Amino acid sequence: MAKASSVFRCTECGAEQPKWAGRCDACGAWNTLAEEPLARVTRRKGGLADRRLVQTAHPPIRLSDLQSTETARWRTGLAEFDFVLGGGIVPGSLVLVGGEPGIGKSTLLLQAAARLEQGGIRTLYASGEESPEQLRMRSSRLRDEAGAVSVVGETNLENIMHHAATMGAQVVFLDSIQTTYTEELEGAPGNVGQVRECAARLMRFAKEAGPAVFLVGHVTKGGGIAGPRTLEHIVDTVVYFEGEATLDHRVLRAVKNRFGSVDEIGVFRMTGAGLEPVADAGAEFLAGRHTGVSGSAVTALMEGTRPLLVEIQALAAKSGFGTPQRVATGLDQRRLAVLLAVLERRGGLAVSALDVFVNVTGGVRLLEPSTDLAVLAALVSSVHDRPVPADALFLGEVGLGGEVRPVSGLERRLAEAQRQGFRRVFVSARSRIASGLDVVGIEHIGELARRLAA
Ligand code: TYD
Ligand code: MG
Repeated sequence: MAKASSVFRCTECGAEQPKWAGRCDACGAWNTLAEEPLARVTRRKGGLADRRLVQTAHPPIRLSDLQSTETARWRTGLAEFDFVLGGGIVPGSLVLVGGEPGIGKSTLLLQAAARLEQGGIRTLYASGEESPEQLRMRSSRLRDEAGAVSVVGETNLENIMHHAATMGAQVVFLDSIQTTYTEELEGAPGNVGQVRECAARLMRFAKEAGPAVFLVGHVTKGGGIAGPRTLEHIVDTVVYFEGEATLDHRVLRAVKNRFGSVDEIGVFRMTGAGLEPVADAGAEFLAGRHTGVSGSAVTALMEGTRPLLVEIQALAAKSGFGTPQRVATGLDQRRLAVLLAVLERRGGLAVSALDVFVNVTGGVRLLEPSTDLAVLAALVSSVHDRPVPADALFLGEVGLGGEVRPVSGLERRLAEAQRQGFRRVFVSARSRIASGLDVVGIEHIGELARRLAA
């Protein structure tokens, strides 16, 4: 039951209800009602007539009268971490760090805290997931000396903010938002109302008191940060920590950033002594590549402003029986189906009776159509059991007619490939490039097999 001091608001349509219900009366959506304190709602309703609001508000000011000081950022020295945040931590910012349980969020943030303390920045690590003793044990494994970091095992938001304010913490880490609760609401920690309200309070705390706040948010199976994706628009910056638990790579990715660009990634390696930034991310995903084997082709992805070389592996084998299997890892299953159809119909290569497996190494996901040509090259190579040249890179989008289209950011991708020792590139014949690489222009997918055999 809610206290009379709170109401329930539908996170879909915004309708307000006095009582919790499984279904919103107004829009009919299920499980969308979230608790909210009443005080904030009534004040908002007061609008222009509300004197308190008028008194506490700052008068309007011309943009040109504002000091244009580029805010100094705090750098952790964990280069990849600083880079993804847009060049360091902005004082007064609220950052959400999302990721699956066990991926390394706590490890990353404890290392960041350790580095900040080494640089003389006061930090508070509030954990509702681990006791201070457990944090101590974790820190003893880390390469970064975390002894100076202040920790507190606390889940009460008011207490955490109190501790942060009294010790004058400049950066507060809250692990996690799902275990934190505010006294203002009766709901259990982790429910949508609590998560949203805690985040909103921390936003005000960060903006008024000036510390930067990092929130850890566990991502559920469905991909959303448990319950509320709504958190994403409350905070200044959203970064996701991703990777395959079985592989060592971890990728930190900014998906929203008020103080920097998005889609930037930072690559780390999980070691026995915590996370280690990978400076040469461009090469990381090609490590361990076997050359001279059929069914392998390399392409260059753009991750934000950074090119990343990845290997695509394909295996086409005569189907045992019944419907042939199509298994894609790191690539959209439907995209693979389209490419196979194009290969069959436009490339004249019989693949419909073959089992086809396509795999992107290093746990990377292909989201760009610019990788089409490389997927097809790997397939053609596997079908003919003939390796593609080890020093060749493939870049091109393939249309339903089998035509090969140019890709964006070609120069940067090629520069990276050249740096890594690639000598030739298969691209759309329509691409305009001046590059040190040998350029093989391909107009239509039918030419690919011929060129690869040459
Ligand atoms: P953790 O930071 O606890 O993940 P999260 O906070 O996202 O749930 O990381 C847990 C995993 O990382 C765990 O499986 C152990 C591994 N790990 C290492 O491999 N090396 C280390 O030095 C540390 C601290 C953890
Ligand atoms: Mg954790």
